[in-house]
Formats: sequence, structure tokens, C-alpha cells
Amino acid sequence: MTSYIVKKGEHYYPSDEMKKIAWIKDEKIYNQANKNPVKFWEGLAKEGIEWKSEWKKAYVEKLPYFEWFKGGKLNFSINCLDRWIKDKGNKIALIWVPEPVKEKTIKLTYKELYDKVCRFANVLKKQGVKKGDVVSIYLPMIPEALISMLACTRIGAIHSVVFSAFSADALKARIEDGKAKILVTSDGYYRKGEKEDLLAKAKQGARGTTVKKIIVVNRVGKKVSGSKFLDFNSELKKADNKYEPEIMNSEDILFVLYTSGTTGTPKGIIHDTGGYAVHAYWTTKYNFNLREKDIMWCTADVGWITGHTYAFYGPLLNGSTTLIYEGGPDFPDPGIWWKIIQDNNVNVLYTAPTAIRMFMKVDEKYIKKYKLDSLKILGTVGEPIDEDAWNWYLNKIGGGRCPIIDTWWQTETGGALINALPGIGPFIPTIAGKSFPGIKHIIVNEKGKEVKQGKIGELVQVSPFAPGMLHGIYKNPKRYLKTYWKRFKKYYDTSDGAYIDKQGNIRITGRTDDVMKVAGHRISTAELENAIASDKRVGECAIVPIPDKIKGEVPILFVVLKKGEGSVELEKQLIKHVDKKLGPTSRPSKIYFVKDLPKTRSGKIMRRILKALLIKEEPKGLMTLVNPKVVEEIKNILKSKI
Ligand code: PRX
Repeated sequence: MTSYIVKKGEHYYPSDEMKKIAWIKDEKIYNQANKNPVKFWEGLAKEGIEWKSEWKKAYVEKLPYFEWFKGGKLNFSINCLDRWIKDKGNKIALIWVPEPVKEKTIKLTYKELYDKVCRFANVLKKQGVKKGDVVSIYLPMIPEALISMLACTRIGAIHSVVFSAFSADALKARIEDGKAKILVTSDGYYRKGEKEDLLAKAKQGARGTTVKKIIVVNRVGKKVSGSKFLDFNSELKKADNKYEPEIMNSEDILFVLYTSGTTGTPKGIIHDTGGYAVHAYWTTKYNFNLREKDIMWCTADVGWITGHTYAFYGPLLNGSTTLIYEGGPDFPDPGIWWKIIQDNNVNVLYTAPTAIRMFMKVDEKYIKKYKLDSLKILGTVGEPIDEDAWNWYLNKIGGGRCPIIDTWWQTETGGALINALPGIGPFIPTIAGKSFPGIKHIIVNEKGKEVKQGKIGELVQVSPFAPGMLHGIYKNPKRYLKTYWKRFKKYYDTSDGAYIDKQGNIRITGRTDDVMKVAGHRISTAELENAIASDKRVGECAIVPIPDKIKGEVPILFVVLKKGEGSVELEKQLIKHVDKKLGPTSRPSKIYFVKDLPKTRSGKIMRRILKALLIKEEPKGLMTLVNPKVVEEIKNILKSKI
């Protein structure tokens, strides 16, 4: 069996076999690109993307804003579809594996996908959607998600995808921010053999908003009636299968995707058309060494940026095949992922460390049953991967043959920015790698001064900023400025800590703000606390993330009730309240009812002290507390609950 890696000394490097197939095998690319990054990206933009007319200026920077390929004109869907259907219309673009094992896998060729996208663009147009309008998409992992998103890009409408596990309230907030007139959703989806309802949440979320029509995919056979609703597939059938794509400016908005920050409300991250297309194309190609004949499976849900860039757009921009799966990782049994890889000859698997840690706990027989030798590249994303999980992934899934590409990036960056390249390496557990060619990150102290190699500091990005980077926060320029450009002015503030090792590789040490990564999902302490505090019985509350063996981190909730005592029943009700406000991904994993919270004189809740108590460390800085006695009380409560 081909091995794509070799061990030299302590670390893994690409083998000769890998070098033979690698797009990039010469380290010189880093120096060459960094000599003139704008020129480097211009070259990539010309080679990788089809433009209707070329840009006048490749890069314009007036911080906090910067634009790529200014004056360039293109349509995103042409780049994902039209340019491939001439020569390889019958090639499979999308493989969709439904959860129910009795249902057949669906394969859509580029031509078939093109046909559906054009039709759906006409459906949206008939409903009055125009260039620049926002369309809300609240769909599970089904082909219609991709069809709807690409249809928006064909019209030049802005898609705003909302994760299907988010609550009705979370959907409402996102619809209201974007003022969408159309919501595309489904009647439900399958999860662990059950039919999950989505329509009830969609209806509730859309109530009282700007949404005029709800287009519903019939996935689980529910009856939908009412003048506000349209059936996705019957509309598709009626529509014309040609749609002349709207030619957009490079800097026009392609999509908005909401993510959590340090305040109580999520922010709509804006991504543009040209820069994002270039970034998505080249990072998919180089990071996963994607070839046209390759099948890539990025397991992320489309509700997250990873789903946008690497489950959908990156592979299609490259004319390759992408696989998506409707279900979870353990139904009908924990062998399902490996069966999917075997049955479909998946070459690239891109997933989150949480999934890997979950599989580590499962009986190995579920993996051994399947042949995984089609795999060439293994990727991870979203949170730090520890050495054990890294080695397990390498050996048990990759058979000790495949490089692990640990990619660091954010919703804001649009695509991966820091990782080892498959043909260059080295592949070292817990080390992400170097910045992508043409991108520069440095580590600075709080004053913005670069720190010495090996020292932990703040990870920042240096100008010229990557083409896929955010272009602002939707309707909130102040927050954009404050979040990313206030602390370091001329550097983009990632809010991650990191250091650079002797070989010049970057190790990420984690968030330095009040953002948690729970099972790879980004959750804001403030947003979760706000949601909990909106329950009338809650007087005060504090969320504290603690390490978790599988999920990386989990939120622990401390609640001070307005009156009365806490109970198991109340705990359940508060969890339900979180589900309603945000969705189950934000659920606290434990709730403690306390009489008071440790506070400073100015009233600031000292979460740091709560965290120390939870992880059984001696809390420091008790002198600054206005109510130091509370620490002993909480200690006793924690003891009694264990
Ligand atoms: O803290 C970093 C962590 O995830 C954050 C971004 O979260 P989100 O916007 O949800 O995007 C996730 C998918 C790109 C970062 O600020 N993070 C992401 N990738 C890694 C990581 N931490 C360590 N290693 C990574 N590879």
C-alpha cells in the first residue's frame, strides 16, 4: 500500500510517493511568495479563477478595510459549475449519503447540479430575489443546501446559512439582521434513525420577520400547507433550466455567516466574491493536494464556515468531487464513517478533533471492518488536536500512511491560513505549521511588539491580509473595528495565543478572549450567559469553560436564583431554555446553583476563580473580592455534587 509519509528522526515528512503527486514540494514557494505576496496572489487568481474582466488594482488597503482584485468581475457559480460542464459535465460533483441506510446514495454530476442551480435561481428570481438581497438558508446536510447557496451566488444574492441545530430564536435573530424575504428550509431531516423536525423551528423563527415566503424541501414527508409556503422540488421542476449569471464585482458580498464573539450577540461575518474564491480554490488544492479525480469528504456541517469552504465550495471550484453525509458519526453504528469512506473511495478526510476523540473510545472492530486505503490526506480543524488523538488518527485511520494536515483558521479568515503542506511537511502533533505561502503571521505581546521565537503571545496577521479574509461585520462597522483592529491597529487580531517553534512552525495555544470551543463549535460566554439570564428565575449567572476529554471544552454554569432553591427539575428546565434560545450545541454540561458569585468591588464576576475551583486548583487573587466567603461556599457545593 502506498505510504505518503516517512519518519525522519522524530517527525514525519512527505514520502517520495507523496512528492510525486504533490502540487507543492519545494519549500522555496514560501520565500518566493513572501517577496511579493500581492503578485503571488495575482498569479494564483489568474490561474485558478475565471474572470469576466481582470482587476484594475490587485490589492487596496485602507485599514481597517482592504480589498482584493478591485475592479475585477466574475460570477462565483460560473467558477463552481459552468467552467466544468464543457468538458466534464458527466463527472460527479456531489455524492450525498443520506442517513437512513435503506435510502440510496445520490450522485449529482456537474451538469445535473448546474441544471438544478439554474432552476433554483429562477425560483428565487420569481420570488423577487435580486442582486444584493439576503436569502436565509436553514437546511441540514442535503444537496438542496448546496443548490440553494449556489443559486444565490448565480443571482448575486447574499446567502446567510443558519446551522440547522440552532434554535428558532437564533434563526430569528439572523433573519432580522439580514432582512431576508425568503427562507429556504426543509420539513426535517434524519438523525439517529429519527425524523427531526425543522419546519416548526423555521416557522417560529420566521414569524414576525421580513420573511414573505418559506421554500420547503420535502425530506421527511410532512404535509406543508399555507400560502406562505412553496415546495422546493415542485418549484424546481416548473422553473427554466437556464439562468444567465449576474456578473459581480470582486468585492461584492458573496455571503454572510454569523459567528460568536465576546458580546451577547452573534456577528455577521462578511465574505466577498473574488478574494474568497481565490483563497478557497488554492487552499483546497494545496492543503489537501486535491486533484480533479479526488473525492473529498469534509465532515463539517454547512452551518459552519468549514462546511461552506471545504465541504462545498473548495472542491467544486477545483472541479473535484465532494461527499456530504446527512447523519451523525454513530448511527446505525460507529462504523458508518469508515463504511462511507470504503464504499465511496474517499481520498481526503477533513474532520474535527472532537470526532476523532469520540472514535478513540469506540471498539476498534468498527474500523477494522472496512478498507480505508483510498485515503491519501487526513485533515483536522476547529480546535487543538492533542498528541494522542493525532497519533490515533494517523495510525488507526490513516494506517500510518497519510499526512495529517492540522489547519488553523477562523470564520473570519474564510479559509485555512496556517498548516503544513502535504508535499513539504513536517507533520508534527499539536503544531499547525507555517502560514500559507503569501500570508504572514507574527506573535506579539499585548503592546503589539513582536516577541522572541518560542515565546507565547498573541497571534496576529500582517499586511497584505489574506484574500479570503472578512470584509467587515454586517451592518456593524464599529464592532468590526473594535474586535479586530483596536488592540494592534495595523495587525489583524486573531484572539488566539500561539508561539513559533525553532523550525518556524506555529503552535496554537488557544483563544485569549471569552470564546469557547465546544466540540469545535464556537460559543461565546456572553451570549450563553445572556440566554440563561433571560429566564425569569435567574438572578445572576456565570459560564466557565473547563477541559473535556472528548469535546475539548465544555461550559459549566453557575446560577444565582432570584428566589428559592435549585433542583434537578429546574436544571432540566434551564437546559431546555438554552435549547430554545440558542440550540443544543450550547447546552451547559453541568449546572450549580449557588447563593452568590465571586465578585470584585466594581461588580465584575471573577470567572477565573470559579474555573480554579472547578479544576481543583487553589484560586488566586481572593483579596480583590468583595465577598471572599463565597469561595468556601462554592467549594462545598462542588464537593457535595461530586
Ligand atoms: O481558536 C481557534 C480555533 O477555532 C477558532 C475559530 O473558530 P471558528 O470561527 O468556529 O472556525 C472554526 C473552523 C475554521 C480559532 O480562533 N481553531 C481553529 N482551527 C484550529 C484551532 N485551534 C487550534 N488548532 C486548529 N487547527
